Amino acid sequence: MQRTLVIETLQKIGEKVTLCGWVDSKRDHGKVTFVDLRDRTGKIQAVGIGGKLSELTTESVIEITGPINARGEKSINPNLPTGTVEIFVEDYKILNKAVELPILVEGDGHDVNEEMRLKYRYLDLRRERMQKIVRLRSKFYQALREQLEKKDFVEVETPMLTKSTKEGARDFIVPSRFNPGKFYALPQSPQQYKQLLMTAGVENYYQFARCIRDEDLRADRGFEFTQLDLEMSFVTQEELMAHVEEIVKNAIKKVGGKLQNETFPVIPYTEAIAKYGADKFDMRSEEEKKDGTLAFAWVVSFPFFKKVDKKDIAEVRDGKSGWTFTHNPFSRPVPESAEDHKNGQNIENIVTAQYDLVCNGFEAGGGSIRAHDPEVLKQTFKIMGYSDEEIQSSVGHMLEAFKLGTPPHGGIALGLDRLVMLLAGETSIKETIAFPMSSSGKTAIMDAPSEVSAEQLKELGIKIA
Ligand code: AMO
Repeated sequence: MQRTLVIETLQKIGEKVTLCGWVDSKRDHGKVTFVDLRDRTGKIQAVGIGGKLSELTTESVIEITGPINARGEKSINPNLPTGTVEIFVEDYKILNKAVELPILVEGDGHDVNEEMRLKYRYLDLRRERMQKIVRLRSKFYQALREQLEKKDFVEVETPMLTKSTKEGARDFIVPSRFNPGKFYALPQSPQQYKQLLMTAGVENYYQFARCIRDEDLRADRGFEFTQLDLEMSFVTQEELMAHVEEIVKNAIKKVGGKLQNETFPVIPYTEAIAKYGADKFDMRSEEEKKDGTLAFAWVVSFPFFKKVDKKDIAEVRDGKSGWTFTHNPFSRPVPESAEDHKNGQNIENIVTAQYDLVCNGFEAGGGSIRAHDPEVLKQTFKIMGYSDEEIQSSVGHMLEAFKLGTPPHGGIALGLDRLVMLLAGETSIKETIAFPMSSSGKTAIMDAPSEVSAEQLKELGIKIA
């Protein structure tokens, strides 16, 4: 069998073809049965005479063989790209019969409850809206990759079983069978490894990095998410921001996104707070909100430290002195704050070389120029109240690398789930992830977290309290 795709039938009038796909819908008119056959390229009407097709159930997988005919003037369907043609069924096979469906595949799915959508995600993904998003995400990744390769970035993978890295959230931990009582942490980001790749001489690194953080779930926040993570050596803040802006802009245009600004405005943190009351804000007009415009801006000049929120366990743990980092402890202070940082004085006014990319009210990315001088990094931890021993045990490996020829460097991570969400005009990142978790942290389709066997626990030396 040589398979023809639905979209190709327009060029096959008069030819006999074989089409494969799903039964999108069926209309029985006694002697004639019409079925809309759907594949990844679209839908086409199939015409079965004398009982042919009438046994079919919706969403069954079938193969149809027959000639493609032009439709008569009156039966043209202007709503279908292949509405001028149909396939006359000579022969067909049921490749997989579908029983009654637990959820409807037609419609946008917004009216179906989340639990059912996620339990039957493979059905939910069949709907046109979700198919478009899955493909948009792939195209967007492709476009970003193209930009990065053009700029001589190197894709490097970093470990998933690792040690805690400070991104301000709780870790997911994994027990070690070989080392009972010891644990790996899943990466909250590749922050430290990507910096060590600068020490390694990679210069321009990128990775489509899966990050895992135990934090409160929201529409724009998951336990698991994907960053376009990158890092560059020998760059200034302005140069790095310009590279990222170019990459983002070109990739967004490539997938048909509409930008408000050809040049992203750069807004200092204090100005953003004064003007919008927040460090992420929406600059779009009502009109632009309707037409899906993306309004990007940079926010810069953030305070380096903030007072610990006593209700936040992760902050209390990091900020032993009552001060903790606002964004990233591996950042360096801006030159104007270098003296205060060095002396641990005037802490609330120390400004970090951090930049956030905001879009339509969301934080779409964040990064910084790093402290590549070991004394500067050490001092950040001192300000947070770490003793020399504590500094050594948490970032000693970084301090060591910074004494072995580490170039000045900086980077950023873009939240890809959020960017795809904005590109697709959706309001939750779950709509952009093939198999997202439920709002209560249950995995799609498979029922995790779940219990493990007593033998597994024993092998790991774990007792449930
Ligand atoms: P940060 O923690 O700001 O920086 O993360 C970068 C971007 O990732 C996205 N993001 C998330 N998306 C979905 N769910 C989440 N739970 C989630 N958390 C973050 C956001 C955010 O802007 N290592 C630094 C980057 C760097 O400095 O290079 C980091 O991870 O869009």
